[in-house]
Amino acid sequence: MKKGLLTVGAIACMALVPYFVHAAEMGKLKYESFEQPGDCGACHTEIHEEWRQSLMSQSFTHQWDEVEYFKLALPHALKLEKVSGVKAGCIACHGPLAFLSGDIPPKPVKDGTRANEGVSCEICHGITGTSEAVPFNFSYNISPGNIKQGPRRDARPESHEVNFSEFTRSPELCATCHDEQSPYGAWVKATYREWKAGPYAREGTRCQDCHMYDAPGKAAEMGPERKDIAHHVFHGSHFESKLAGAVDLALYSTKTTLSAGGTLDLRAELFNGKAGHFVPSGSMEERMFWLEVYAVDAAGKRHHMPVQPKGFKGEEFTIADSRAVTYQDFGEIMGLKDYKGLSRDGNVPDGARIFRRPFFNPKGEMTVCQWYTAENTGVDYRIGPRETRTENYSWSLPKDAAKGFLTVEARLYYSQIPSSVGEFFKLEKSEYAPLLVNSNSLRFEVK
Ligand code: HEC
Ligand code: HEC
Ligand code: HEC
Ligand code: HEC
Ligand code: HEC
Repeated sequence: MKKGLLTVGAIACMALVPYFVHAAEMGKLKYESFEQPGDCGACHTEIHEEWRQSLMSQSFTHQWDEVEYFKLALPHALKLEKVSGVKAGCIACHGPLAFLSGDIPPKPVKDGTRANEGVSCEICHGITGTSEAVPFNFSYNISPGNIKQGPRRDARPESHEVNFSEFTRSPELCATCHDEQSPYGAWVKATYREWKAGPYAREGTRCQDCHMYDAPGKAAEMGPERKDIAHHVFHGSHFESKLAGAVDLALYSTKTTLSAGGTLDLRAELFNGKAGHFVPSGSMEERMFWLEVYAVDAAGKRHHMPVQPKGFKGEEFTIADSRAVTYQDFGEIMGLKDYKGLSRDGNVPDGARIFRRPFFNPKGEMTVCQWYTAENTGVDYRIGPRETRTENYSWSLPKDAAKGFLTVEARLYYSQIPSSVGEFFKLEKSEYAPLLVNSNSLRFEVK
């Protein structure tokens, strides 16, 4: 008798949560299962405005995302069995409403389907947990409906229910989309795992603390003033304000005076004191930081100083070389004739140190196709959280170097995509233009 009641109870309980989807299964829900961000914005005015400015609202519509999916990943998935899963997989993170509704492949952006809503309010506030011990690859469990998962125990809205959720507050929520394994088993995104292994996780500083800062305000128009509202800006590398100064840069030399024909020895130290993970992180396959160092003599003549190699295995991928050609796989995927690849480092000047983690496809070619990545553990020359990297320079002053002050200028740049790739796909320049992260200079006297 008791047992029977329990079963009925369990059935009743299931009926209350009809939309529960285990580990983000494709096509188990409908677009109509989700409210639109504008509906939430009627009361959550400011949070909605912040979200609209963030990349979360553009994760499907943003130019490079659309190009990479429709020109590369989707055709590749239809051609090569091993990567066929990305036809739906990319969309599970970039256009989750389309994935959950089974609208795969989704229509292009111009058709205006609800895939365009990107990572919407209803996604993050519908996620109840994960199917994995350590989440990755869209392993979120989602249950959209009138109950919104939220971070507070004392929120009492009238129009919808809320459930206090530890998971909403946890970095594991972010990990469900920010860590990714390729069909070949390579870790192609590992921001959560980088964070977890680093100092910020030990100190209890979450992703949310840096990317959704707290400030006084109201979460909803009719809600109470609170001193610590979670802002939904999700500023990352697309925002100059977040990038600026993310890495500190200092120059050291034992000398202050130099002589024409002599040697200038210099050390540069780069310290990642602001990011809770490696820099670059996220889409490591295409992100680069690089350091340009110039000597400018009293006559205004500029000389680029190449970095001194350290001699580690795979170092050639971390020093810019205008002769290096790669990205041959675009030809294979797009069926291009007479295509031989593109410049590996784009507009980075020869001899500059590049902080990156190169990815390689099964043919051993360096690639920006993270789903086609078989190997990426050989070289990881990025800067870890609170890690310092030291670079050395030794430059021979020309015999006719102008007398007077010589200034060494060091500039640390960042770009989202190698410029060669951006130009090849005719992307808007802002998608791959170099952004200044930090700079410093040191003055010498040439006697
Ligand atoms: C009619 C107004 C209204 C609408 C529409 C509305 N909300 Fe709310 N919501 C509120 C109010 C009021 C609160 C409580 C704010 C507070 O206590 O600071 C709230 C709180 C929340 C919270 C926070 C719960 C917590 O733990 O702090 C979340 C998450 C949330 N809403 C999500 C949504 C989403 C997603 C939508 C759209 C699908 C939405 N809301 C639509 C009024 C609204
Ligand atoms: C990428 C995931 C994500 C998206 C997208 C998202 N939120 Fe949130 N939201 C969170 C997290 C995480 C928190 C809790 C932050 C914390 O723990 O510091 C939160 C907190 C909130 C709160 C409570 C704020 C407070 O401090 O009281 C409200 C209300 C809310 N979100 C509404 C929305 C609305 C409305 C949208 C869409 C316009 C939205 N969220 C989109 C992840 C998200
Ligand atoms: C449902 C999947 C999903 C979840 C959950 C998610 N993200 Fe994201 N996030 C994305 C996608 C997709 C992008 C890439 C947007 C683009 O560039 O197209 C992104 C981009 C970002 C960026 C980069 C923005 C930039 O300017 O470069 C930051 C920062 C970020 N997310 C933080 C978070 C944090 C913090 C959480 C957890 C509170 C979180 N995300 C949860 C999918 C997700
Ligand atoms: C201590 C503060 C801090 C913490 C903690 C932190 N971040 Fe960041 N994050 C930053 C800063 C600063 C940047 C800008 C530098 C950059 O883009 O490399 C950044 C950049 C990013 C980017 C863009 C990376 C790129 O190179 O394109 C993503 C995505 C991101 N964070 C996600 C996360 C996620 C997910 C977590 C938690 C697992 C997290 N962050 C934890 C400070 C933090
Ligand atoms: C597990 C979730 C997940 C999957 C699967 C995924 N992505 Fe992403 N993608 C993200 C996140 C999170 C970011 C943001 C990282 C960052 O800011 O560096 C991102 C960033 C990107 C970017 C860079 C956007 C920019 O502004 O530079 C492109 C392009 C992209 N993804 C395309 C794809 C394609 C194509 C696929 C399928 C082959 C795919 N993604 C699969 C989560 C995912």
